Amino acid sequence: MKHYLQFKDFDATEYAYLFERVALIKAKFKAYEKYQPLTDRTLAMIFEKASTRTRVSFEAGMYQMGGSVVHLTTGDSQLGRAEPIEDSARVISRMTDLVMIRTFEQSKLEAFAAHSRVPVINGLTNEYHPCQILADIFTFIEHRGDIKGKTVAWIGDGNNMAHTWLQAADILGFKVHVAAPSGYRIDPQVGAVNNPNCWQAFDDPHAACAGADLVTTDVWTSMGYEAENDARLKAFDGWRVTQSMMQQAKPDALFMHCLPAHRGEEVDADVIDGPQSVVWDEAENRMHAQKALMEYLLLGRLA
Ligand code: CP
Ligand code: NVA
Repeated sequence: MKHYLQFKDFDATEYAYLFERVALIKAKFKAYEKYQPLTDRTLAMIFEKASTRTRVSFEAGMYQMGGSVVHLTTGDSQLGRAEPIEDSARVISRMTDLVMIRTFEQSKLEAFAAHSRVPVINGLTNEYHPCQILADIFTFIEHRGDIKGKTVAWIGDGNNMAHTWLQAADILGFKVHVAAPSGYRIDPQVGAVNNPNCWQAFDDPHAACAGADLVTTDVWTSMGYEAENDARLKAFDGWRVTQSMMQQAKPDALFMHCLPAHRGEEVDADVIDGPQSVVWDEAENRMHAQKALMEYLLLGRLA
């Protein structure tokens, strides 16, 4: 049994297989071709933080594959009344086939997985957001081909997304330029990459964008860090992705943002709504990517 708790849980061969499956599953969806390999399987989704994309993509994806979902939140389950995560894992995993969790500390997700009888998927933690990067890299491949050897510029907070980009660069052989203000830089121990050359820190976001094939950013205040919002607004002054930053990147560079976005804060409207932006494909691909992921975790390799 495999879990998907962080990006480095799979190797490059598994990702090559998964990206092929995502393309195939997406093509079936676009052709209105029924594909229901997960009939009678149930996915439990546990949300301790808000979500739009993650919920809709997992829920719609599971129904499309013939399965069903159970949606739990902290507020409407015993999780919010201090039932131990280990006990919740034992119970939920006896009744369902697969669990997706969005929570705070990665250690909480790991504790759940350690006591689960079924595969567990990280739907975002403070440290990582692997399902998003799975979709982002598939989106890059769709638009530009293989990401190997390419350069991704990460502008902004050294957060869960940034750490996951580092792991992806390490496994798939590309480079990440990270520009974050002092106090908000990435923690290499959280990224935990084997190849230290897969990323480089920059003090200047314009310099980080130079020669990039993809420029990407995220909110300045992630879920769970709202108390720091005022301090963050000040610290990130100058880190908004602008057209002038995009002009430092390659002429055919893409722009991505995992969403939700704040126009005029971490990104200018003319960038996110401009011709280089692929944010809507990126959001849609969450569903196709996670359908392939659920298929792989439940059925293994099919081809
Ligand atoms: N990108 C992402 O995970 O969006 P949600 O918070 O809406 O799920
Ligand atoms: N870094 C953001 C991503 C939201 C999808 C957060 O954790 O809130």
